[in-house]
Amino acid sequence: MCDITSPHYPPPSLMDKLRWRGLANANMFARSTLPYEWSLRMTRLPLMLVAALGLAAPAFADGGDAAKGEKEFNKCKACHTITAPDGTVIMKGAKVGPDLYGVVDRAAGSVEGFAYSDVMKEAGVKGLIWTEDNLVHYLPDPSKFLEEQSGDATGKSKMTFKMAKGAEDVVAYLKSVVK
Ligand code: HEC
Repeated sequence: MCDITSPHYPPPSLMDKLRWRGLANANMFARSTLPYEWSLRMTRLPLMLVAALGLAAPAFADGGDAAKGEKEFNKCKACHTITAPDGTVIMKGAKVGPDLYGVVDRAAGSVEGFAYSDVMKEAGVKGLIWTEDNLVHYLPDPSKFLEEQSGDATGKSKMTFKMAKGAEDVVAYLKSVVK
């Protein structure tokens, strides 16, 4: 009966039998009953898990938690995107502030075409680099930090947002997205 040369090999599956009796049709599983959004999310889930595992390892080594930082970045999205030079959008956001792709260890005020405040430009000219340490001091009070760095006590940063806590995590996240 299980002779593979037989025209009936392989043996009929349950689906075949149901189909012969008119109880099933070829489309019954093709048409998903899930809303489109869900099915998208389910296909993305394994990718997200892989990404999260990949990011977690370097994050702890730096003292900040990149996974937490990614959530914290929700506060930054109102003004910043993270877009790689090849145009890949890593985090969609507004363009009130400069693109933050690769900001860790980048010179302050150096995104081409962005209209920085005078105090940011001055700090950049004086050689300010966004090291992790500088970022952690900048984020809680941008104007104060830039006044100190530029020597211009009246200058105001265009970044009005102050990050009370979680700066280390956001910095770990910003670092982790750069390949
Ligand atoms: C309300 C809008 C706004 C929000 C929210 C905001 N920023 Fe900014 N950010 C700006 C602007 C505008 C500038 C340019 C500042 C200047 O020129 O003085 C800036 C500049 C920066 C810079 C300097 C970049 C460079 O190219 O020199 C960093 C780093 C930065 N922001 C990080 C963050 C992070 C991280 C968050 C979230 C925790 C955040 N910002 C939230 C508007 C914002």
